Amino acid sequence: LTDTYTLANGVEIPIVGFGTWQTPDGDVAKSSVEAALKAGYRHIDTAAAYGNEESVGAGLKASGLKREDYFLTTKLWNADHGYEAAKKALDTSLQKLGVDYVDLYLIHWPNPAAFRDNWAEANADSWRAMEEALEAGKVRAIGVSNFRPKHLDELLKTAKVTPMVNQIFLNPSDLQPEVVAYNDAHNILSEAYSPLGTGKIFEVEALQKMAERYNRSVAQIVLRWSLQHGFLPLPKSVHEDRIIQNGQLFDFELSHHDMTLIDDLHGVAGLATDPDTTNF
Ligand code: A2P
Repeated sequence: LTDTYTLANGVEIPIVGFGTWQTPDGDVAKSSVEAALKAGYRHIDTAAAYGNEESVGAGLKASGLKREDYFLTTKLWNADHGYEAAKKALDTSLQKLGVDYVDLYLIHWPNPAAFRDNWAEANADSWRAMEEALEAGKVRAIGVSNFRPKHLDELLKTAKVTPMVNQIFLNPSDLQPEVVAYNDAHNILSEAYSPLGTGKIFEVEALQKMAERYNRSVAQIVLRWSLQHGFLPLPKSVHEDRIIQNGQLFDFELSHHDMTLIDDLHGVAGLATDPDTTNF
């Protein structure tokens, strides 16, 4: 869990992150973050929109870890697009989290409903604020989330800094081949949110059978698949036993044959996201 990938600007990022989307604010968020850090995770992923930054911050504090000993990501919410608004939103997130800097700050969505007609401009303006925050040391790396190639193409027209990360919905049921290929070609790390397909992946029989063969859980098989692809999975759980289990991925390896078998499951759980039709 302390192994790292190296981002385009040299920043080291632990290869498994602990996800907190849909983790309720309050004691649950605090105690699950504490449990994750106790289990050895050193990378926590949250967002302003998750509404749990204060509790995540409380969990980080309660762990007793020094700031430099964990990697922390948060995200710019849709309502806060624009140069001034983005600067303010980052300061608010830092305050809520109780930290002086985050390791990674992401634009959460490329084209929220409020900016449907001028998303390119909104992203460019927000990005400028994020580049300045990088320069000022308020963030150690910057990136995007849910961006498709056309959104990245637009952003790169004005960006001085290429996003270091694109965090996308990425699991055996949705391989996002075009986005991943684009990310790879631009040295952008593909982070996988909902790496367990928000739980739906557990129903897939082929994965259940494979898990039996490896004497592992379906979650471990799927997370291992994500890692062997070079993705950065962000599993979420509020249960300590699952949190521990989801971090135990380094004492087995999937064969090439089984990697291919999982790749072939694309579409199996009927999951997909389409940023063009999201209405946040
Ligand atoms: P819970 O938080 O109650 O443990 P994703 O990361 O793809 O969004 O998936 C998260 C979902 O999968 C949550 O519903 C979570 O529930 C569940 N989950 C996470 N880890 C495991 C696991 N090891 N075994 C079974 N369910 C899990």
